[in-house]
Amino acid sequence: MKVLVTSALPYANGPMHLGHVRSTYIPADIYVRFLRSRNVDVKYVCGTDEHGTPIVIRAEEEGKTPLEIANRYHDIIEKELRDLGISFDNFSQTSRDLHHDLTQHFYKRIQKNGYIYEKKVMQLFCQKCGRFLPDRYVVGICSYCGAEARGDHCEACGRHLNARELRNPRCVVCGSVPVQKETTHYFFKLSAFSKQLSTYLKTAEISQNAKNYASRWLSELEDWDITRDMQWGVGIPNTDKVFYVWFDAPIGYISFTKEITDDWRDYWSGRVVHFIGKDIIYHHVLFWPAMLIAEGEFPPPAVVQAGGFLTLEGEKMSTSRNHVVWIRDYLNHFPPDYLRFYLVSAASIDQDIDFSWRSFADKINTELIGNYGNFINRVLTFCKNHFDGTLPAPTTFDSRDLALINKIGDAHSRVTKLMEKFDFLGAIRELMRLSKFGNEYFQSKEPWKGGGENVVYLSVNLARSLAVLLEPFIPFSSKEILKQIKTTGGWETAGELFLKPGHKIGNIHPVFRKIEESEVEAEIKKLKEASSSHRTPSRTGASTPTAKTPSKILQKKKMIGLDDFEKLDLRVAEILSVEPHPNADKLYVMEIDLGGEKRQIVAGLRKYYKPEELRGKRIVVIANLKPAKLRGVESNGMLLAAEKDGKLALLTIDKPIENGAVVG
Ligand code: 2FM
Ligand code: ZN
Repeated sequence: MKVLVTSALPYANGPMHLGHVRSTYIPADIYVRFLRSRNVDVKYVCGTDEHGTPIVIRAEEEGKTPLEIANRYHDIIEKELRDLGISFDNFSQTSRDLHHDLTQHFYKRIQKNGYIYEKKVMQLFCQKCGRFLPDRYVVGICSYCGAEARGDHCEACGRHLNARELRNPRCVVCGSVPVQKETTHYFFKLSAFSKQLSTYLKTAEISQNAKNYASRWLSELEDWDITRDMQWGVGIPNTDKVFYVWFDAPIGYISFTKEITDDWRDYWSGRVVHFIGKDIIYHHVLFWPAMLIAEGEFPPPAVVQAGGFLTLEGEKMSTSRNHVVWIRDYLNHFPPDYLRFYLVSAASIDQDIDFSWRSFADKINTELIGNYGNFINRVLTFCKNHFDGTLPAPTTFDSRDLALINKIGDAHSRVTKLMEKFDFLGAIRELMRLSKFGNEYFQSKEPWKGGGENVVYLSVNLARSLAVLLEPFIPFSSKEILKQIKTTGGWETAGELFLKPGHKIGNIHPVFRKIEESEVEAEIKKLKEASSSHRTPSRTGASTPTAKTPSKILQKKKMIGLDDFEKLDLRVAEILSVEPHPNADKLYVMEIDLGGEKRQIVAGLRKYYKPEELRGKRIVVIANLKPAKLRGVESNGMLLAAEKDGKLALLTIDKPIENGAVVG
């Protein structure tokens, strides 16, 4: 069966950092290399996601065209990923004609099948700039959590927004207050697919984190506005509008396949495996399968694996604060395999992990080099020095030799099963145990005391097996080790004694170099200096400083009458309990007492307060805000807080007064 593997398409508006590669590119590449080593007919495609507002805004800032920006970052990103060993069969671009044509074909079929309808909607329009303001063209206040947010998304509460849901909206380019203007939009009938998506979620191979997240949304699927009133994007046939970037981007998975093979339909009718970050589960487990079902030519994807996030030295990565490690900077100092090894062996892919330079150096020095590198080095050196680099014929095997032979076979079959289940952490641990066993075997047999034919014959074979089985994880080192042993790869041959007596190994030298303490210190220092100087914000267009400063925006806030204010039911409440939100690392789920009534509210306070600082606090809440679900958890009210320059303080009560007292 043909297998098609994809990694989520990176936006072409900035270089890559460590956070991007861990969830999506490294795991996908490991899986693809595993399949290739087993001679599976697999293609691995990806490319830059080049539409959407961030690229246009960046282009406007730089006085370039969006295509110039997209081409620039396409080339940068491709080079970074390939230097990291990510072995795409195609790394394309969504701005190419083939992609535009296929998107339009796809749309026409969905439309013909009855899943598109037209609706007149009100959109924000900037009279000064003379254009509609889709998505990130607007900034304002999130009406759910009160944080500053962009037109399509609130970073603080993680909610996808419609620009019209923002309070106090402003045009990101000129700072004016937009007006509402009617326009015709095309909607995709996502709500028609809840049954089919429910079955899909039960039957497809979807990582548990994605299943849990997506099932919560099944009962609340809303039709999806796939239209944007702007110029940059794939044109909607017979209109002057373009598709929303999230409509055309996943179709890129298909168009990038079509670009490289005439058999593209067979790959899309075969097993399709998507690797994504956990922030885009909704799009891949709900929107995209529904689009495929609606289009009708291909089955929904067989597998979706959602990777966890990475923090850096215990803090959230931030391009705007420059608290980030850029891939190019990393590659200028360390080998790609070290990063691949570390990111996979630190935790299972669906878990969030922290990258710290110290634990990175420690893992590489003790596990990769101290265990595996040491085994390879001592075995090959011994073979060279004592047997002139030629594998001797073994004599009768003793029990320890036989145990080693069994271990190789067992580990091979266990690792194969783990890889098939995407348990890359389990697989790499198994391989490190096998290498440790090899070290103990070699040590206990003391070949330097004489004899040693069996030890050398078996150990060089084990070295080869390890290099073959570790190739998906650390391809550059494996290639070098296999070259030194003068052999080839091939997954299925790694469970047996593939090298025969008389085989001559090549020139040898140590493959790994230790990471020095001074290097760790230098990296930590660099990070501190970079984040304190707050260099260029990079990847997200929205965090670029195009928006007018909040103070200017405030001065422009519209005057209101007392009757507007009186619509708010503000009350004193006491915080009874505080729990972390199960799906959002910025949010707390809190129980509050409103005087005889207990309520649950969700608030983006995790960055600013510890639970113990909040419990018992008496605060002010809007009690008559419509209930809303924040990342799947219901919030019934909103607390008031003041925010400026990244600091946040709660509004509290300065004298004793009953819970539930009216604030006015
Ligand atoms: O979130 C992102 O970075 C998007 N550019 C991912 C798109 S993946 C796909 F659907 F094409
Ligand atoms: Zn404007």
